[in-house]
Amino acid sequence: MSMAPQELENNASKYASEAIKFDSQGARGMAIANYQKAIDSLVKLLQLYPNSKLNALYKERCNSYHGRIKALQDSHGIEPAVDPEASAEEQKKSVERQEDENDFEELVMKEKPNISWNEVIGLEDAKSALRESIVYPTKRPDLFPLGWPKGMLLYGPPGTGKTMLAAATASEMDGYFINVDASSMMSKWLGEAEKNVSKLFRMARRYAEKEGKPVILFVDEVDSLLGSRNSEVGGEIRTKNQFLTEMDGVNGKGKDLMMYVIGATNKPWSLDWPFLRRFQKRIYVSLPTQEARESLFTQYTKDLEIGARVSSLELAKIFDGYSASDIKDVCQAAHLKTVHELFDSPDYHEPVEGEEAQKPRAITTADFREIMARRKPSVSTEMIRAYHKWSEEFRAL
Ligand SMILES: Nc1ncnc2c1ncn2[C@@H]1O[C@H](COP(=O)(O)OP(=O)(O)OP(=O)(O)O)[C@@H](O)[C@H]1O
Ligand SMILES: [Mg+2]
Repeated sequence: MSMAPQELENNASKYASEAIKFDSQGARGMAIANYQKAIDSLVKLLQLYPNSKLNALYKERCNSYHGRIKALQDSHGIEPAVDPEASAEEQKKSVERQEDENDFEELVMKEKPNISWNEVIGLEDAKSALRESIVYPTKRPDLFPLGWPKGMLLYGPPGTGKTMLAAATASEMDGYFINVDASSMMSKWLGEAEKNVSKLFRMARRYAEKEGKPVILFVDEVDSLLGSRNSEVGGEIRTKNQFLTEMDGVNGKGKDLMMYVIGATNKPWSLDWPFLRRFQKRIYVSLPTQEARESLFTQYTKDLEIGARVSSLELAKIFDGYSASDIKDVCQAAHLKTVHELFDSPDYHEPVEGEEAQKPRAITTADFREIMARRKPSVSTEMIRAYHKWSEEFRAL
């Protein structure tokens, strides 16, 4: 049975004004419970009447109630906001729901990626560093009486496999992978980033403690935590400090806590020493070597129609200075070139029943050369020099 929109809206208003009343009296739990009920009514309204003109307004209200709930929870740690009349079971559910309903949902992926070490081409140093620090200790913690590094920083030019490496590490072990993008986190959380950083770590710890399985907290674009904009209300400094404190917790806590923080950045020079120091391993994820480029070409052309005289070795020589993701794009571009030609050719016709569909011609080395002439490597030699210079000083394997 569904309620009329008017009724739902009235309910929402009623709960909201109750909530505000409790809020002003300092009855935090009741305030939260009523804000939540107001949200529930609005959400129902949104679901029942997805085309209503008022929906933008309702969403805005939901957000502001959510915001208020969060602020109330944070002001005294997370404490149950429950309806005193509800059963214990219901109260517990309501608390869990509120915890789950915070902003992490969009930012955090708890799914396990499905990428194997073999798919990450080259980067042997990086792979073995991750294997030694994460995979081995989680298998045999008894062999590491002095503990082992829990903070790892992957740095290097864009498109070289930093994100991919973190994903492969996660998929090689039986555990949780929490993926947060620091730049979207900072812009989305605005003034609340500091609180949310601690919530995030708390959540990760809860997973690690609950099941005794390793948890990788992967913070992509970790440099954004330090902020380049000195605007706002100095929130970035506080956020950074909060992050440092949390990292100390991870590094210092019981050796058995299987929690890791992997940070990734392509702007390592914007990180300061207090920050770097907490990532005991700092791993350079470099442009692919000649050998790696060769494997990359083999890998990314394996499903394409390639001319018999095209050799990955030669392509690897032609594309010196290109990143792994450049190479992937180049292979795609070469293939698309032949597909476009097919569509543009005067003989082209739609597939006919009983006849084999027309296929693009095989890709030649000339196609690759033509693409190279049109696209530069995405990373300049100056940038590479900057990475090397930084590495000399700060790399730690
Ligand atoms: N070492 C690699 N081996 C195979 N493929 C790679 C490798 N590095 C990058 N790629 C390809 O390029 C894509 C982008 O790589 P990835 O997102 O890991 O780069 P990144 O180093 O995290 O870049 P950014 O600094 O821009 O975040 C990958 O999805 C993959 O298809
Ligand atoms: Mg990345």
